[in-house]
Parts: sequence; C-alpha cells; structure tokens
Amino acid sequence: MSASTIFGRSLLVLSLGLVVACATAQSQTAQEEFKPYVGQEGKDVVWVPTPQALVDRMLDLAKVTPKDYVIDLGSGDGRTVITAAKRGARALGVEYNPNMVDLSRRNAANEGMTGKAVFVQGDIFETDFSKATVITLFLLPDLNIKLRPQILDMRAGTRVVSNSFTMGEWESDDTASATEDEGCSAYCTAYLWIVPAKVEGRWKTSQGELRLDQQFQRVVGSLAVDGKLLKISDGRLNGNELAFTAGTTKYLGRVTGDTIEGTFSSGSATGRWSARRS
Ligand SMILES: C[S@@+](CC[C@H](N)C(=O)[O-])C[C@H]1O[C@@H](n2cnc3c(N)ncnc32)[C@H](O)[C@@H]1O
Repeated sequence: MSASTIFGRSLLVLSLGLVVACATAQSQTAQEEFKPYVGQEGKDVVWVPTPQALVDRMLDLAKVTPKDYVIDLGSGDGRTVITAAKRGARALGVEYNPNMVDLSRRNAANEGMTGKAVFVQGDIFETDFSKATVITLFLLPDLNIKLRPQILDMRAGTRVVSNSFTMGEWESDDTASATEDEGCSAYCTAYLWIVPAKVEGRWKTSQGELRLDQQFQRVVGSLAVDGKLLKISDGRLNGNELAFTAGTTKYLGRVTGDTIEGTFSSGSATGRWSARRS
C-alpha cells in the first residue's frame, strides 16, 4: 500500500470521527436544551405536571410500599415514578413523547434513581400494565374510562390513583387533597379506586343460595336462609374483601377464585361461613 493511500485512509477515519463527535455533541446539546412547557402537546393529552405535594398524597393514598410495582401511565417528566422509586417501590413510567422520556431519565439520574425509576417510550393504550400493583394517572376523564376495562381486569386489590379525573360511574373508594400551603394551587385532588374481585353470580353456602349482582365495588342480591330469601344490603368489595348484611346478620369474607371464606355476626352470635361458586 502506498504512503498516499495510507494518508488518504487516515484522513477519512479522522473526518468520520469528527462528524460522529459533532453529531453526538449536537444531540447532547439538543437534549440538554429540551425544556417542557405546561400545555405541551401530548398524544392524547397535553403535559401538565402533578404538583409534588399531590404526587406525595397520591402515593400515600395508594399506601405504596417497597413491595409495590408502580406504573405511571403518561409519566411526563417522571416525578411520580421517581418519588415512588424513592419509597423503595419498583417504578415504571410510560410516556409517548421521547423528549420527555429522555428528560425523565436525566431527572432520575440527578436524583440517584437510575435503574430504580425506569422509563419507556410508548403508547399507554398499547402497553401491558397488568403486572402493576399500583397505577397512577393524570390524564382526562374519557381516557380514564377508555382504560377502565383493562384496569378492572387487573388483579383484585390493585390500587389506582388519579389526579383530578374520575372513572365515570365507578365511584372512588377514597380521596385526598393537597393544600395551597403545601404549594398546590391547581389539580390538587386525588382519587383512589381498589380493583374489586369479580363476585357476580350464584354461590352455594351451607344455608342456601347466595346470589350476587355487582356494579364495580357495590354488591346487591339475596341469601336464602331456612327457605327464606333475605335481601342483601350494604354489600361492598374492598379488593378481595367482601362485606354485606342479610337480614340482621353481617357477613365478612375473603374471595379467592371460586370460594369465599369468612365470618358472620348477628347480635352476640358469631361463626364462620363459606361459599362456592355454582
Ligand atoms: C397531564 S401529563 C401528566 C404527567 C405526569 N403523570 C404527572 O402527573 O406529572 C400527561 C402526560 O401523558 C403523556 N401522554 C399523552 N398521551 C399519551 C399516550 N397515549 N401514551 C403515553 N403517554 C401519553 C403526555 O405527553 C404527558 O406527558
């Protein structure tokens, strides 16, 4: 190989190196310069950050512990995911805007949460979030309702917290607010839902048939006792925990697949009861 060919190749390698270095520097600068603005276009909803005081309240309301897997659907700048990770939970943010995903990864790094607060670019309507034990949302009422069937199919007991927006006729199980003194002036109310077990249908008990009709966490129906049909009142599910009254007897039970087991009390009389799905 001639000296001029070697010189030519070296020059080419050097030039390519320079081009790559310039491109990297440019993209780093672009990333560093990216600043989100409130109202910034999102796929289905614009970016408005949840005030940090309400982020804290939302995670309190969901009783997040290190055993949880928290997924924020539409994770914005990553604040909810980073806060959940700081509480020791596994935490994932799903965000459509790639610039926001990069920003949230930088925010996580700045808070020492790289690897604990994880972010993926994606569409929440094409994401499998079924493994979460806690879902956090700050979307819009119609988007919550669009997600509702998928949420109701999650494991009973999964907690869902939403900033400001409700779930239509699925009433919330609890609510909490952050105050102006805490730095919250808008979007300061959070709602909690606990995914109820599915109990609709007929169940066999030692006394007689239990018929349950379910509307989200509310339960109505009847219980046959000694040939008499007693109407169920105050029927309610808290995840897998079922409570109802039939006549003057209060029933509590834990739903596990096709069985319910628990206790009843009527005046001073107490006992155990169980039911099997017919
Ligand atoms: C109101 S902001 C809430 C951000 C964050 N959860 C919080 O509470 O601070 C909604 C976020 O959802 C994102 N988003 C909108 N449509 C989306 C979609 N289909 N999939 C994933 N992210 C989406 C927006 O880019 C925006 O960052």
